[in-house]
Amino acid sequence: MKKKLWLIAIIGALTCYACQNKSTNQNMKIEKQSFGKLPDGQEVSLYTLKNQSGMELKISDYGGIIVSWTAPDKNGKFDDIVLGCDSLETYLKGVPYFGAIVGRYGNRIANGKFSLNGQEYTLAQNNGKNALHGGLKGFDKKIWAVTIVDGDEPTLKLSTTSADGEEGYPGKLEVEVTYTLQKDNSLKIDYQASTDKPTVLNLTNHSYFNLSGEADVLSHEVVLNAPKFLPVDETLIPTGELKEVKGTPFDFTTKHSIGERINDTTDTQIKFGGGYDHCWVINEKADKKLLLAATVHDPASGRLMEVLTTEPAMQFYTGNFLNGTIVGKKGVKYGKRSGFCIETQHYPDSPNKPDFPTTVLNPNEKYETTTIYKFSVK
Ligand code: GLA
Repeated sequence: MKKKLWLIAIIGALTCYACQNKSTNQNMKIEKQSFGKLPDGQEVSLYTLKNQSGMELKISDYGGIIVSWTAPDKNGKFDDIVLGCDSLETYLKGVPYFGAIVGRYGNRIANGKFSLNGQEYTLAQNNGKNALHGGLKGFDKKIWAVTIVDGDEPTLKLSTTSADGEEGYPGKLEVEVTYTLQKDNSLKIDYQASTDKPTVLNLTNHSYFNLSGEADVLSHEVVLNAPKFLPVDETLIPTGELKEVKGTPFDFTTKHSIGERINDTTDTQIKFGGGYDHCWVINEKADKKLLLAATVHDPASGRLMEVLTTEPAMQFYTGNFLNGTIVGKKGVKYGKRSGFCIETQHYPDSPNKPDFPTTVLNPNEKYETTTIYKFSVK
């Protein structure tokens, strides 16, 4: 009798262990599939990360691009909430940084030039006369090495080495970007880097969100925890001033829809940006505290996105340059303002603005920033 009981207990424990293990493995498993080839024959892959609640991300090793990302609405229905393309070919034809890792320098550097320790560096002028988003072949167009990290939340570590002088930037740079899909329906992105020579660095992710699946994001309601923003010139280079948002269409310290004031071209800054395409200051001290920077709510679906970051600022861009020429997922033509970006980062053109928080990275220093995009419903 005693023997029998022992046997039952052991079988029970084993079954329980096996089924627990199975469910963890099922939830944790990161699937890898082919996403095609580059013209030079290099293989490109797509990784699928899924958490216990059913949130799913597809991330490519090409540009570290978040190709798709599902989130539930108030009825529990999952939909894709980022702009992107069905095929690698469309990305290769040229898209405006959909979902990609942007580097070495997110946003603009005036006239494609900066000086560091008395030496002038020249970058490609790929946005009018300015340098934008890391140059002609920025981090958005690199194939990153991928490691699947063990743990109880699906984690993908992307790494790359950027050679000294690449795209005109000094220093050999080792970069790691880690995507962790957390249990609470948030994606944590950790950026790390080190260099062997003084350089400048400003990494971000360029996902375009549309929480509704509608043609544009004008009815999304936004709160930006930022009392100041950076006015720009006609070429979108910050003038150097930190301006109070109070009394301007840039005041999102309380809830406003994206569409409410976006066409107020009596405001010169709205005119220059063709809408919102500006940097809001989250943390003037730039002391790397993780702060809630932004909340975006789509009343129709109930989806709510919170953005937390250790970065001092964010570029809030409302897809003003999209014009319907890019055919995205499911054949959808992405029109003007069909997505918005919250690119957490340092201020644009910091290398030429000594009063801005520094973006210089020296050897023996570690570049470390974190941004979290968290989804819920309201
Ligand atoms: C950034 C810039 C915009 C635009 C987009 C990409 O957000 O600020 O002006 O260049 O990237 O199209």
